[in-house]
Amino acid sequence: MKKPSVYVTRNIPKAIRILSRSCNLTVHKRNALPSKKEIIRNVKDKDGLLCSLSDTIDSEVINAAKKLKVISSYSVGYDHIDIDAATKGGICVTYTPEVLTETTADLAFALLLAAARRIPEADSLVRKGRWRDGWKYDFMLGTDVHGKKLGIVGLGRIGAAVAKRARGFNMKVLYHNRKRLSDEMEKELAVEYRSLDDLLKESDFVSVHLPLSKETFHLLKEQKLKLMKPTSYLINTARGSIIDEKALVKALRKKWIAGAALDVFEKEPISRNSQLLKMNNVVLAPHIGSASTETREKMAEVAAMNLYNVLNGKRPLFTVNPQTLNF
Ligand code: GLV
Repeated sequence: MKKPSVYVTRNIPKAIRILSRSCNLTVHKRNALPSKKEIIRNVKDKDGLLCSLSDTIDSEVINAAKKLKVISSYSVGYDHIDIDAATKGGICVTYTPEVLTETTADLAFALLLAAARRIPEADSLVRKGRWRDGWKYDFMLGTDVHGKKLGIVGLGRIGAAVAKRARGFNMKVLYHNRKRLSDEMEKELAVEYRSLDDLLKESDFVSVHLPLSKETFHLLKEQKLKLMKPTSYLINTARGSIIDEKALVKALRKKWIAGAALDVFEKEPISRNSQLLKMNNVVLAPHIGSASTETREKMAEVAAMNLYNVLNGKRPLFTVNPQTLNF
């Protein structure tokens, strides 16, 4: 039997190892991302596509891929894929949740701590030889984390894992979801529901854990950021476009909030002209939420198995549009 053909847009050794026995692979090996033209040219005659969150798989790509049966994304987010177009074309879209939950929650908490205690600023100051006077009572003062209020916007898997960490810091955890959790779940997670506005008004730290969609695009805009306390911090490890970045720059400049810690941006990589790069009260990371060796290996395994399963008439581990499967 002829092996199915698969285009892989990233050189992910573990996924390639898993798939190479059963599929004919075309792997994009250059560091630079494949252009849309390149993706279209490569998926045209393929049965499967393994892509990352930096590849835009829109209707133009999907409609060009006449044989495609599965799009396996090496990510938990799938906002880079036109799900409606894929579903219409009968293409199964798969993703990699669960395996990266704890790792991403670790990063959200690391960013929260880093912003509150000014760790990147402190590190840079020491390296630049600007630690001149020894210990000083008012030097590099930050703010406490323990005992404060954490507001989680989007209490899904990752949000709940962040809430768990916050309990260890004796924080009070508020959350906002479109749909409120059951009383039992709220008790179990030790979280209190708030409207988005109340959460923003009350929290000392606000951490974003929503998927990006039409509904969540620029959810945190100027008017919402204005509700936050001048002593509060905003942490984003979800997607950049959930926050209106221009409004955030304004909020930081005008001191509507004390600081921010961001792993994700409206444009990635961040523009060299971004005002955020000039601000001391912002901690920046290059979209590394799931970037631990262990987790990236697990994601590769899940992404490869998702793809393999669909091509072999089996259910994938995680799919966004199960209605495309007739087995
Ligand atoms: C990371 O942002 C992911 O979606 O996996």
